[in-house]
Amino acid sequence: MRNVIIAGNWKMYKDLQGTTELINGLRSQLTTLPPRVTVVVCPPFTSLALASTLLKGSPIRLGAQNMSQHDEGAFTGEISWNMLRSAGCEYVILGHSERRQYYGEKDEVINAKAKKAIASSLKPILCVGETLAEREAGVTDRVITTQVRGVLSGLTKAEMSSVVIAYEPVWAIGTGKTATPAQAQEVHQLIRKLVSQIHDWPLAEQTVIQYGGSVKPDNAAELLSQNDIDGALVGGACLKPDSFASIINAVK
Ligand code: 13P
Repeated sequence: MRNVIIAGNWKMYKDLQGTTELINGLRSQLTTLPPRVTVVVCPPFTSLALASTLLKGSPIRLGAQNMSQHDEGAFTGEISWNMLRSAGCEYVILGHSERRQYYGEKDEVINAKAKKAIASSLKPILCVGETLAEREAGVTDRVITTQVRGVLSGLTKAEMSSVVIAYEPVWAIGTGKTATPAQAQEVHQLIRKLVSQIHDWPLAEQTVIQYGGSVKPDNAAELLSQNDIDGALVGGACLKPDSFASIINAVK
């Protein structure tokens, strides 16, 4: 049985006050977690240290939404692995489609960030996903193959043990249009096959592959019941304690 990881990507929401309210709300709803389930919250950088303090003694883990591929230096506006570690992070989302779309991140830089994260004992959540135009043009498999091979390039089997992959079809993010469980399962199966081709089946069988894109309390159970869907990367629905907790409780 693979582990299940439910992560909340807060994106650019919540100041310090909002962070305190959301974390305290989650703590009161999630005192114990179902077996095999890991829950991660990924607030904005400015809230990480506060969130870490508020989460002391809770089973909820902390992650960031991005990270530099460099150790330190004159990189205005960037955040290093060491800063994330010292703020209490264990996870970091890398290559989210909004980073790809608005900030020009390519597979090569996402791969460099992934290597840096793993070397620094951070677990990367590596995002892949096709746009609507790509799906309609029938090139989803090709796009996903290129992205998966690109972001995982050169990672050893040992390094792969800390990698989480998130399939987030761009057309399903923030649109309320969820991929059907069958559509998601098909791509998840492809991603697992790609991992098996790059490495081997035992490793592919252990790799956690999350689905993201309009995951809500009312569709989570069906998505999470698919064979190759091992968790969720949740946007909008993670900003309220009730809805995020319902998604976590939908894990069977
Ligand atoms: P929504 O759940 O708001 O569609 O966002 C998904 C996402 O981008 C998570 O990283």
